[in-house]
Amino acid sequence: VCWGAKGGSGTTVVAAALGLCLPPPVMLVDLAGDMPAVLGLSEPAGPGVHEWLISTAPAQQLLELGVHVAAGVTLIPAGRHRTEEIGVERWDTLVTALTADDHHLIVDAGTGPPPAALHELADRSLLVIRACYLALRRAVTAGVCPSGVVLVDEPGRALRAVDIETAVGAPLVATVAIDPTVARAVDAGLLASRLPRSIQRDLRGAA
Ligand SMILES: Nc1ncnc2c1ncn2[C@@H]1O[C@H](COP(=O)(O)OP(=O)(O)O)[C@@H](O)[C@H]1O
Ligand SMILES: [Mg+2]
Repeated sequence: VCWGAKGGSGTTVVAAALGLCLPPPVMLVDLAGDMPAVLGLSEPAGPGVHEWLISTAPAQQLLELGVHVAAGVTLIPAGRHRTEEIGVERWDTLVTALTADDHHLIVDAGTGPPPAALHELADRSLLVIRACYLALRRAVTAGVCPSGVVLVDEPGRALRAVDIETAVGAPLVATVAIDPTVARAVDAGLLASRLPRSIQRDLRGAA
């Protein structure tokens, strides 16, 4: 599960790129709503994972929401109804269904700490953060300790990776350079079809 302390950190780009880097099959789950745009997909109409979460629909219906992203990569879109409190059993059903057949599951939990039950169930809870004091403040007060940090590395920042690791209490698992090729691929809707090499290389540690 990937989450950011502050909007605009690069969480969705990191989650999408991780999904595209991992050996398939991969399930991407969008809890925040930007994933189709970042992947260059048309905006899915109709229900998504949030509608499934608040319902009692069987796991099969969740799988039926899947949208093709690339070979071996499927996206479960967010839908409209943002969820509040979802019980651990429902998250457990989601994780079990979406990791069946050895699928890797990547969840974009958006800005703010992920739902507690999802955080507990995840093999890894990755905080995506820039070396920004304001973001770091929010990460520290989030009340959730990630298992790893993905630093989106902008030039000119004073905070160092070690400062972030120390403040957050989790190790750096990847440093992703700010690369205009990545930004352009996102803006052109080409991230899924032409994932830039730089981000593939930078995410190796996290993948
Ligand atoms: N590695 C990168 N290099 C260049 N631009 C990036 C990179 N990662 C993200 N961006 C850009 O930063 C902006 C915010 O990214 P996004 O993934 O939407 O952040 P978040 O999900 O944390 O709000 C987008 O315009 C995106 O294209
Ligand atoms: Mg996002």
